[in-house]
Amino acid sequence: MIIILLGPPGAGKGTIAGEIKKKIDIPIISTGDILRNAIQDSTELGKEVQVYVNSGKLVPDHLIMRIVENRINQKDCMEGFMFDGFPRTIQQAQELDLLVQQLKKKIDQVFYFEASHNVIIERLSARRVCTKCNAIYNLNYDPPKVADKCDTCGGKLIQRDDDKEETIKKRLEVFNNETLPLVDYYQENKLLTKINADQDVDDRFREVWKRITELNLTGKKE
Ligand code: AP5
Repeated sequence: MIIILLGPPGAGKGTIAGEIKKKIDIPIISTGDILRNAIQDSTELGKEVQVYVNSGKLVPDHLIMRIVENRINQKDCMEGFMFDGFPRTIQQAQELDLLVQQLKKKIDQVFYFEASHNVIIERLSARRVCTKCNAIYNLNYDPPKVADKCDTCGGKLIQRDDDKEETIKKRLEVFNNETLPLVDYYQENKLLTKINADQDVDDRFREVWKRITELNLTGKKE
């Protein structure tokens, strides 16, 4: 099974991916997390992509495709996976279609999370992430039990470098110019479900789960 979570920064893609995973145990492939981990570990890839990620620009397609191709060919992805924040350009979507075809799989559903500008800014300014397990918190809606400490693994919580107001604005501009055309792309392929991402987490997940159930994907992994 292949699910794609599409939407502007702060729409809650990562949060919903975590909720889906509690019900369907397939890996979450977050290109953003992979890039940030590479930056944190100062790998060759990390050094190459740091300038893009920290300024809110997209990392070049050829680097992203190399990451994705490696990841989806790993053993834990055999039964399916969900993408959080990939694809982000038409080029990436077209190359993904070819990869999926080669694997003799298909994309089952694309959820597009629509969120309003002020909600995005408010959520991202209050977001904190775990440096160890990438768990997501929000100081306003979902604070950790102990300040700056992950409830799950005890890791240190930090504010992402790209969650500063100026960079958030840049990321939104990049989303509108480069990623929004994917809504039409997947609508034409009859794969898209729109979700109102201004709702609270429970209501939004209820909508997503209803659609997954309608599509008979609940027990499906391949
Ligand atoms: P990435 O990490 O993918 O960032 P993003 O797409 O900007 O999305 P976010 O992670 O900011 O938001 P989200 O929608 O997951 O929201 P979350 O669930 O955390 O990418 C970062 C960078 O990497 C890019 O700028 C680019 O440089 C590069 N990159 C990555 N992929 C790439 C690609 N394919 N091609 C090229 N470059 C790429 O929620 C946000 C906050 O709100 C949290 O605090 C959460 O707790 C809270 N929250 C969520 N939902 C709700 C709700 N319903 N009610 C209240 N609070 C909520």
